[in-house]
Amino acid sequence: MDINLDNLFKEAEKAANNAYAPYSKFRVGAALLSQDGTIITGANVENRSFGLTICAERSAVVKAVSMGLRSYIAIAISTPDSKIPVGPCGACRQVLSEFMEPSSPVIFGGSSDERIRSTTGELYPYDSLHDLAKA
Ligand code: THU
Repeated sequence: MDINLDNLFKEAEKAANNAYAPYSKFRVGAALLSQDGTIITGANVENRSFGLTICAERSAVVKAVSMGLRSYIAIAISTPDSKIPVGPCGACRQVLSEFMEPSSPVIFGGSSDERIRSTTGELYPYDSLHDLAKA
């Protein structure tokens, strides 16, 4: 499967428009590329009880799994309210590692043209509870 990360990033940018972020005013969009070619997007969903906020990456994963899609070969993350690229938070790195291989590409960027291209393994080394994965 050919992975077009620029196109995936555009989908993440579009998804950021659906963010519900009235408290932080920091919109985030994520786009997962499923092994079968389907793109599943997510956006951050905040709550007035701040700890209940769900990040864009986890919102995309929960959406995809509930659609029956469990294996992703790439993810793009867009943070249009930041000039510099902002990578996934620690909790999201753990959750992404559940459904992605360490070699899977990750691309993220903000409102400038700068893009960071990394991998899930690079962002989440020494995988916590690795031996329990996919039990
Ligand atoms: N956020 C994400 O959606 N993904 C991340 O990886 C970092 C943080 C959201 C959570 C909150 O709604 C806002 O960005 C500010 O932290």
